[in-house]
Amino acid sequence: MIDLTNFEYAVLTKLLDGKHRFLALLREQLASCRVSRREFTGAGFYTHLHVDNSLALGDIQLRFGDVVAEINEMPHGAGFVLYIKNGRLSLLEGYGYDDPWPIKITTYTLRYITGEERNWDELKEVLVFATTKEKKNMATIESVTERDDAAMLDELLWTVLWQPFGLPRDMRHLLKREGEEFALLARKNAQLVGGLVAVLSRKGEMEIRHLAVDAHVQGQGIGRSLVAELCRIAENKNCKRIHTIARNTSVAFFRKLGFRISSEKAPSHPIFLKHGITFEIMEK
Ligand SMILES: CC(C)(COP(=O)(O)OP(=O)(O)OC[C@H]1O[C@@H](n2cnc3c(N)ncnc32)[C@H](O)[C@@H]1OP(=O)(O)O)[C@@H](O)C(=O)NCCC(=O)NCCS
Repeated sequence: MIDLTNFEYAVLTKLLDGKHRFLALLREQLASCRVSRREFTGAGFYTHLHVDNSLALGDIQLRFGDVVAEINEMPHGAGFVLYIKNGRLSLLEGYGYDDPWPIKITTYTLRYITGEERNWDELKEVLVFATTKEKKNMATIESVTERDDAAMLDELLWTVLWQPFGLPRDMRHLLKREGEEFALLARKNAQLVGGLVAVLSRKGEMEIRHLAVDAHVQGQGIGRSLVAELCRIAENKNCKRIHTIARNTSVAFFRKLGFRISSEKAPSHPIFLKHGITFEIMEK
């Protein structure tokens, strides 16, 4: 087994760049990835990759290739395709657009087909395939009925939402509002990984008071599932409006779920402001 060349590593790093969770998992594979075999075809190359089976991401087969290179020895440039087989980095293919593959590459620049920014909409369609395959690994959403679950939910909310700002453990109770309360939790592999608390006011409006997902599993659709479940409850209760006081850091998340920023003025809080956190009232 041999190491990746600097060039191969740079191409793979560019292909796996970005916030998508699946790309992050593949980057973990890249950290220990080695080469089992190389083939040169004249027009390009195939580098066969080896990743330990313990890092495999299940039954996932896909390929994508939106990285291109300007190469000193190849006036027309080159393109690359990455193959993932059985959930592991498997093959890196490189091909010249109109030049033979050079014996040596002196200088090169990598970019995406679309320029500095990649076309995320297109790439996501490919990656969604991978993430839906992972569905069997998804969290389940439940209503809190047991005392132990309620205590664990309190702990999770504090750890994610208030502890980082030095706020006290009983914040949830200090922020309590009048009305019927709904508490949901997300469980994954028997662990509590997310929670949501909402209150239905007498006016028939549902307010999401608190929403938190454990930092280790953020970006896996758990927040979306919690809010979706609350929306179902709200619909059954004939609610006219669902709203929340969203942190500026989660405005984009709520937008994705169909919430809009309301014209109502949101409160501010000096402790959060000190950390650059402002609030918006969001509704749907
Ligand atoms: C905000 C939070 C609840 C989102 O939960 P999550 O499980 O990480 O989010 P999901 O994976 O369900 O994300 C759903 C979509 O929103 C996007 N998203 C999530 N957080 C985002 C953010 N901060 N900025 C931009 N987009 C975001 C995801 O990319 C995903 O988009 P996609 O479906 O197109 O891929 C979670 O990150 C969290 O607990 N953050 C810290 C506490 C917090 O801010 N709570 C809200 C207080 S108002």
